Amino acid sequence: MTSSTRDFSSIGVIGLGTMGAGIAEVFARNGYQVVGVEQTEESLERGRAHVEHSTGRAVKRGKLSEEAQAELVGRIAFTTDMADVKDCGLVVEAVVEKLHVKQQIFRALDEIVSVDAVLATNTSSLSVTEIGTATSHPGRVIGVHFFNPAPVQNLVEIIRTVVTEPQVLEDAAELARSLQKTPVVVGDKAGFIANALLFGYLNHAASMFEGHYATREDLDAAMRFGCGYPMGPLALLDLIGLDTAFEILDTMYKQGRDRLHAPAPILKQMVTAGLLGRKSGRGFYTYE
Ligand code: CAA
Ligand code: NAD
Repeated sequence: MTSSTRDFSSIGVIGLGTMGAGIAEVFARNGYQVVGVEQTEESLERGRAHVEHSTGRAVKRGKLSEEAQAELVGRIAFTTDMADVKDCGLVVEAVVEKLHVKQQIFRALDEIVSVDAVLATNTSSLSVTEIGTATSHPGRVIGVHFFNPAPVQNLVEIIRTVVTEPQVLEDAAELARSLQKTPVVVGDKAGFIANALLFGYLNHAASMFEGHYATREDLDAAMRFGCGYPMGPLALLDLIGLDTAFEILDTMYKQGRDRLHAPAPILKQMVTAGLLGRKSGRGFYTYE
């Protein structure tokens, strides 16, 4: 494979929620200029606060100086105008897990960026191929799937569609390595590798909780202390966000129709009641 001349010095990130804020931080931490886009001033401020809180934690732990933190945050231009990504060589979309919203964004991005720019989605389960159909150049559309928390987890799944240009995959893998992440390349099937293996387990844990089989603490303790997982499944669902987790399961269920991924009814009930996990302050657990 020939090496590419694609310019990734400036990266756009659309959506600064749980994932987008972390992804913007990862790029800025590694010296990239970032244009972070949100839809309202309020959500933009929330995204900025997320980055400041996360990098502030590194300062408190003595892993980052205050000057380096200020420089890192200064490399992110926060904006509500998507047209500000026009000079970016790569745009990573990280908005809600809904196909029509992502397609709308890709349709708009297709008009904004140059034809050489790569358009990437952080989707967990939706079809990258279908997202790409909203653009006039689907060969430059890929999945670049970061894991939560993005500044900590070292895997990036790179999703190829049947029309993705091979050089785009190479460039994305090289870019992931420049972020100290390990890239794996995978085809366009709901859940890719990690979520295809993870979400049946998470859904099962939610069902066990719903059936009063064990307390939340005991369910989580079993997997942490019995199996060595860093976090129990209910705490992990809260970290992911129950709305996002529901959408992922629903997409996987609709693609495979397997009982494993039929979302546990309690997930929908909690989302409807506004219990979204950490981001709303309450999910299976309550957060300050
Ligand atoms: N943002 C940034 N940094 C964070 C963070 C966050 N939200 N949470 C923790 N960290 C950092 C800490 O600052 C600390 O950094 P240093 O080692 O440099 O000091 C490090 O992570 C460890 O943190 P803690 O000591 O506070 O806590 P911990 O050891 O319990 O680790 C955890 C926390 C990293 C979240 C760990 O519990 C873990 O790995 N949990 C599993 C997470 C997981 O499975 N993620 C994948 C979810 S699925 C997914 O993402 C795909 C999808 O599509 C849904
Ligand atoms: P989230 O709900 O925390 O954040 C989504 C953000 O997108 C919100 O801040 C919202 O204001 C913003 N947004 C919505 N429409 C927008 C628009 N038109 N323009 C700009 N911003 C817009 O969601 P999340 O959990 O960060 O998930 C984002 C994506 O990342 C989803 O595709 C999800 O499946 C994927 N993902 C999530 C996780 C996770 O653990 N939460 C992990 C990996 C991948």
